[in-house]
Amino acid sequence: MRPAPKQSRMLIGVLAAALGVAALPASAEDQPPPKDTIFARKIVMGEIDMNMDEIETMLAPEGKLELSDAQEHAEVISTLLMAFPHLFPPSTNQWKEGATRDPATDTFANPAIWSNFSDFYKRATEASKIAWNASHAKKPDEFRAQIKELRLRCNGCHALNMKTE
Ligand code: HEC
Repeated sequence: MRPAPKQSRMLIGVLAAALGVAALPASAEDQPPPKDTIFARKIVMGEIDMNMDEIETMLAPEGKLELSDAQEHAEVISTLLMAFPHLFPPSTNQWKEGATRDPATDTFANPAIWSNFSDFYKRATEASKIAWNASHAKKPDEFRAQIKELRLRCNGCHALNMKTE
């Protein structure tokens, strides 16, 4: 048989690699890799942060509040905060004192989260509800007050549940 041209040899290699991965035994609980879950929750938080930033820019003294725009951002935050605490399986408890960390991919989640998960869950749920209320506020003043409260909830949760390095 003629040797396969370079491209099809590469394709065969890729297929073999893919099949090899698929044929690996499933992990004990058959969960996604912890590093993927950590990455996903960091992306979710980053998205929450971008939406909050848009709102706070509009609410700044030199900003201009477009209420319906700002409320869409608040609704996105509410949805993401509802999903967020579901991205904390015990296998993702990986922060360690003194370890070198890549801020883009490594977790800063405080291991304390897993020793009182119900408190963490409650904080996420409450913050999500405040964002939801903000997204449905009837008046700019009401919206502003709820966003102020939401910001306190971001900072309060981080103070307890996030490591700074
Ligand atoms: C229920 C707790 C909780 C609430 C509420 C919360 N956060 Fe977080 N946040 C975390 C945790 C935990 C991490 C660290 C996640 C990790 O590194 O695995 C984090 C990470 C972040 C990060 C860093 C993301 C990155 O790239 O690693 C930003 C920015 C952030 N939060 C912004 C916000 C803002 C803005 C709000 C409020 C609208 C908010 N957070 C509300 C718990 C919370």
